[in-house]
Amino acid sequence: MDQSILNQMCRAQLELSGVREGELVVVLSRGHERLDYADAFLNAAQGLGAKTYHLRLPMAAARGGQWTVGVTPLAENPEAVDALKKADMVVDLIFLLFSKEQMAIQAAGTRVLTAIEPAPLLARLFPTKELRERVEVGAEILSKARVMRITSRHGTDITYKIGKYPTISEYGYTDQPGRWDHWPAAFVFTGGADDGVDGQLVLAPGDVLLPFNTYVTSPVTYTIEKGVIQDIRGQLDAELIRSYMDSFGDPRGYGVSHIGWGLDERAQWHGLTSFPGGIGMELRSFFGNVLFSSGPNSELGGPNDTPCHLDIPMRGCSLFLDDEPILIDGDVVVKDMLPASRRR
Ligand SMILES: [Fe+2]
Repeated sequence: MDQSILNQMCRAQLELSGVREGELVVVLSRGHERLDYADAFLNAAQGLGAKTYHLRLPMAAARGGQWTVGVTPLAENPEAVDALKKADMVVDLIFLLFSKEQMAIQAAGTRVLTAIEPAPLLARLFPTKELRERVEVGAEILSKARVMRITSRHGTDITYKIGKYPTISEYGYTDQPGRWDHWPAAFVFTGGADDGVDGQLVLAPGDVLLPFNTYVTSPVTYTIEKGVIQDIRGQLDAELIRSYMDSFGDPRGYGVSHIGWGLDERAQWHGLTSFPGGIGMELRSFFGNVLFSSGPNSELGGPNDTPCHLDIPMRGCSLFLDDEPILIDGDVVVKDMLPASRRR
């Protein structure tokens, strides 16, 4: 993407994120990754009258090409963490999510925006205030519920006891102290109580396996008891999931992680057919998906910090909170979460 367009987008992003004169915005990157993003954010922050600098870390040794969450080069750089805590806003071009270091930076009152997706996706799913409002409606409803039940015509019937962990909203920008967000994103989630998830989950053809970046081709049945996946049955997809999870050698990878639903009508379920790269935020965000995930719950303040994490956006599910329908067959049924074009 042309650097001047990237500059304009990052300027609009920092405006939404409330960057103002006199604030300190630190841009964090590593190695040679996203130096064009770093330039654009520095330019934008400066243009808005903020103080700004670029903190660039070396590449950490990758673990066999796997997507390991929570492991970042900040762990070896406590001095860098201290510097980031002094910022009003950190632009994270690395992906710090699930790390202790990100939690510490947020706890210091610093807001954090992650931006690692390809620039065309940043543009196409650019955050809006209208989308934020609908995501916040979802978060409000979710935060008050105590039981989440998800069903599907494929055989899913699973219940989460919720309320122990916070509800998190993601709408693509952040203007509140200590709050994290990810550009682009539009969904809400929470986690079940550690021993409070039970039932059966059936992945259907077309459901999405992240980080494989593939679509499920045949049904996969998860049996879950007391918050732990006991069994994953099916054909090739099930074997691939089990093989991937077992490669971490960490039974905590079989824990159940966050659960919620997507709200961006611009995000396309078929986004992987012309996948621009990145980590699949479009698939997490598409309207009416139920996002099931396994592995860590450290992001929510829980004890499981395994690096083995799968996110699985599912189509066609119904989701109930305290028996009230929120989604029916993959479509949102709460009016205030619908896009304006569907409220008339
Ligand atoms: Fe996730």
